[in-house]
Amino acid sequence: MAATLLQGDKLASQIKDALRKDIEDLKAKGVRPHLVAVQVGENAASRVYIRQQQKACEEIGIAYELKELPDSTTQDEVLSFIEQLNQDQAVTGIILMMPLPKDLDAREVQMKISPDKDVEGMHPANMGRLIYGEMGLAPCTAHAAVELLKSTGVELKGKEVVVVGHSEIVGKPLALMLLSSQMDSPTPTVCHIATRDLTSHTKRADIVFVAVGKPGLIKADMVKDGVVVIDIGINRVPVTDASGNPVLNEKGKPKKKTVGDVDFETVKEKASVITPVPGGVGPMTTTMLLYNTVESAKRIAARK
Ligand SMILES: NC(=O)c1ccc[n+]([C@@H]2O[C@H](COP(=O)([O-])OP(=O)(O)OC[C@H]3O[C@@H](n4cnc5c(N)ncnc54)[C@H](OP(=O)(O)O)[C@@H]3O)[C@@H](O)[C@H]2O)c1
Repeated sequence: MAATLLQGDKLASQIKDALRKDIEDLKAKGVRPHLVAVQVGENAASRVYIRQQQKACEEIGIAYELKELPDSTTQDEVLSFIEQLNQDQAVTGIILMMPLPKDLDAREVQMKISPDKDVEGMHPANMGRLIYGEMGLAPCTAHAAVELLKSTGVELKGKEVVVVGHSEIVGKPLALMLLSSQMDSPTPTVCHIATRDLTSHTKRADIVFVAVGKPGLIKADMVKDGVVVIDIGINRVPVTDASGNPVLNEKGKPKKKTVGDVDFETVKEKASVITPVPGGVGPMTTTMLLYNTVESAKRIAARK
């Protein structure tokens, strides 16, 4: 039996409706969520994210501002710029566009952002709070994946959950969130590049999260019947015709499509629930950035 598709759009739109209401309440208290994106140097890929973020923020009434610093900006200059934003009462959230120019220490800059304005949830203080089960300002993608799982209503108590990938921005925070008592105590296992036999773990899992960046990594023979699959991977791969030849676009270049880390067509025949890529975790990630931006504004409002 084919799986139920777990699309991100519907949940994202419910969360955005709730956020619009929160934003009205904040305005009544004299606080308008105001997100500042800091871009150092030029980066074509960040431009796409900046446009997406701006559109999403404006759609629900968050002020969005892009601050651009030249490529030649020194580490001290970036740090003091972030400090100014930390001190600015009108700024409620800060997002650092990656990558930074190679001479800059991105981690030091990230840590300079006030934990209360850290809408990406990457500051050690916010990561640390995950240990205490506080998901207030959690890393957006991990939080998005957890909210999607919760929306299925699947009973989690006693379930085996396997997280494939242990990056700082997705796999590790996801594993910490799964350990929270708010999640009803499933048993998470985290797999990574050095895991000896990945299939032995994925095959006994009731729920599998995959965040690796390798198309087709999880195949049908690696999961059990009825598994819930949350595919976080985003990969651009060539489109091929029935004979396996690349399909060209109007400019004569290989046409590409976006896929996840799961071999969707075969795994969906075994799974009970599966997220599509695109359309699953992706729409929820931007929504969790909005959630964090409103959350940071609430913290600032509470101190007024
Ligand atoms: N949907 C969204 O909104 C969203 C947001 C962010 C990221 N993503 C996507 O999610 C994927 C992961 O992102 P990321 O930033 O976490 O990537 P990353 O920093 O490159 O981490 C990938 C992780 O996968 C592990 N890994 C590599 N090969 C493996 C294998 N064969 N078996 C098991 N584990 C393996 C790596 O382990 P080692 O570190 O030990 O090598 C690492 O922990 C990417 O496709 C990215 O585009 C999606």
